[in-house]
Amino acid sequence: MGKDVIIACDFASAADTFAFLDKFTGRKPFVKIGMELFYAEGPSIVREIKARGHKIFLDLKLHDIPNTVKKSMAVLSRLDVDMTNLHAAGTKAMMEAAIEGLTKPDGTRPLLIAVTQLTSTDQERMEKDLLIEKPIAEVVMHYAKNAKESGLDGVVCSPLEAGVVHDTCGKSFLTVTPGVRFADGDIGDQKRVMTPAEAKKIGSDYIVVGRPITAAADPVAAYERCVAEFVD
Ligand code: C5P
Repeated sequence: MGKDVIIACDFASAADTFAFLDKFTGRKPFVKIGMELFYAEGPSIVREIKARGHKIFLDLKLHDIPNTVKKSMAVLSRLDVDMTNLHAAGTKAMMEAAIEGLTKPDGTRPLLIAVTQLTSTDQERMEKDLLIEKPIAEVVMHYAKNAKESGLDGVVCSPLEAGVVHDTCGKSFLTVTPGVRFADGDIGDQKRVMTPAEAKKIGSDYIVVGRPITAAADPVAAYERCVAEFVD
């Protein structure tokens, strides 16, 4: 799969999600379904969006014992999503089990991406709450390497880290990057942001864009602007 823009469908219900997706009459965007929507609507929301012709990144960030993650990934794989994720903190054994569970009888599987340290975790919280006393950048890169060695396809990271991840883990190791804003847009609660054009330049493989598209007066135009800056 090549570079693409993934819309974060952070809606509370299927009705709100479909009202949003109904606006897209031409191109079918790649969409991200997160915990809020999935827990509200269940697997049927995935099937329905898939049936409408969208690619799906199911963002459920699994983290449990390897056997549970393996079996859960097998269920998600049967939903025929295109990309899903887990926490690299679950260890290499958990990530390897996830790949096993995700792989279908014909050998194919959705892309599997690791979350390293959440961007809501800073150096101080990592040291005080998690007792991890290394610099956070080193921890993020260590987790990325673990993910690669476990057979995963890439990591979720800030677009600012995408270049370093590629330098460390190779160009084909995918970087999926939220925190994208238009140069003339609202930053909102994101702290370290990049424009779609900058994310392209630094080598992000997929940008995940929520409110700059979902809260835009014209979401289709905002999406097309992202695609024009990032993909075309
Ligand atoms: O609306 P916005 O563009 O900020 O949405 C970004 C999306 O990416 C949200 O679904 C958010 O939960 C997700 N995300 C993030 N930062 C991370 C990981 C995920 O913003 N580090």
